[in-house]
Amino acid sequence: MKQEKQVEILKELMRQVDEGKNIDAGVQYKMPTSAYACPEIAAKEWDLLFQNHPQLIGLSGDLAEPGSFLTIDDFGTPVLATRDRDGVFHAFLNACRHRGVRVAQDTRGRKNVFTCPFHAWSYSNKGDLVAIPDEDHFGPVDKSCNGLIELPAVERDGLLWVHPQPDGRLDIDELLGETLAKELASYNLGDLAHGGVKTINMNLNWKLANDTFGETYHFAKLHKNTLAKIIPGNTLHLEEFGRHHRFVTAAASLQDYKQVPEDEWDIHVGSAFILYYLFPNITLIAGKDNCTIVKMYPDPDNAGRSTSQVFAYYSQEIIDMEKAAREAGTLQEVNADTAYDPDNRSIPTLAATMEVFTSTIEQEDYLMGEFQQKTAQNGLLEFVTFGRNEPPLHHFHKTFREVLGLSPLEKIT
Ligand code: FES
Ligand SMILES: [Fe+2]
Repeated sequence: MKQEKQVEILKELMRQVDEGKNIDAGVQYKMPTSAYACPEIAAKEWDLLFQNHPQLIGLSGDLAEPGSFLTIDDFGTPVLATRDRDGVFHAFLNACRHRGVRVAQDTRGRKNVFTCPFHAWSYSNKGDLVAIPDEDHFGPVDKSCNGLIELPAVERDGLLWVHPQPDGRLDIDELLGETLAKELASYNLGDLAHGGVKTINMNLNWKLANDTFGETYHFAKLHKNTLAKIIPGNTLHLEEFGRHHRFVTAAASLQDYKQVPEDEWDIHVGSAFILYYLFPNITLIAGKDNCTIVKMYPDPDNAGRSTSQVFAYYSQEIIDMEKAAREAGTLQEVNADTAYDPDNRSIPTLAATMEVFTSTIEQEDYLMGEFQQKTAQNGLLEFVTFGRNEPPLHHFHKTFREVLGLSPLEKIT
């Protein structure tokens, strides 16, 4: 992120801390709870936002070297993503051309050839059909036109994008816009290594999962015994980029920066986190030498269920630091008490940090989401209210409704 932008954001957050006031959108909105429970809306969003919309499937580090592969089964099209021997990223429909069985079963690994488990037709990681057993019994097959069905795939600035339809449009400049694309490029996400994933399946609509990352108003209340011990909340800087946005909240130590010259300010130090919402379902938290991506997917058969996948990525330096600390015996496992103790100076394991982060989401945020889901399904509460201090929620739901052709959010006067 450009230095002047970092200073602009940190100054606004300092002003909010000084005045003891959160962001003010100047308006409240009413939102119909049907958005979380209506099967017709769920069917429409599955079609428009998942089956027929570009999907961020991960970072370059998910396919770390030639021969790496990933399988994805989150948005209706089973995908096999590969990195071929020339380092080129591909995405295919994970379906054998013989009779449709998945040619790759594992979630991730290394393989140059994928052999279908049913009759052992084999495909290269460039998608070519390379072998058919007992071909003389089977009869002639033109191998040159029976490779895996290729899907549009783009690797750009460390981000891996796929379109779920073979003829889908995948234009990243158009998708992100120039300003956001450049800003994401500044984090060098391509240098980060995959550091683990945790999946959360719960009884809440995927948009309620997404709403968790839409305000800082709840930090000091819901998270008073966990996150709020290190991140105060009630501050927020928001910038919209078309359908996407960036949201930043102050670190507890932000005011110390007043003693430091502005040209030395670093947003990674002055803020608690920098969070990008990428339409439709991605939360990307960009750290100085790490990144967390939360992908939220609906259950296509049940508007009241969703799956969130939390992916952690780290720089080699961080991984090496953990290794050195482990060897020196200064590494410790953390739990919710020690992880959120601001005076705790010991180095936690990366896996334990990830566990604490995801369990906070699961046991605190998504637990609220399950209550909200029950209310939405009951239908007696027709509307919920988004406050003046919750503008990321305004933006997300306005955009979502516009894309689906639903009535706009109603202003409360
Ligand atoms: S279905 Fe794959 S080899 Fe027959
Ligand atoms: Fe939260």
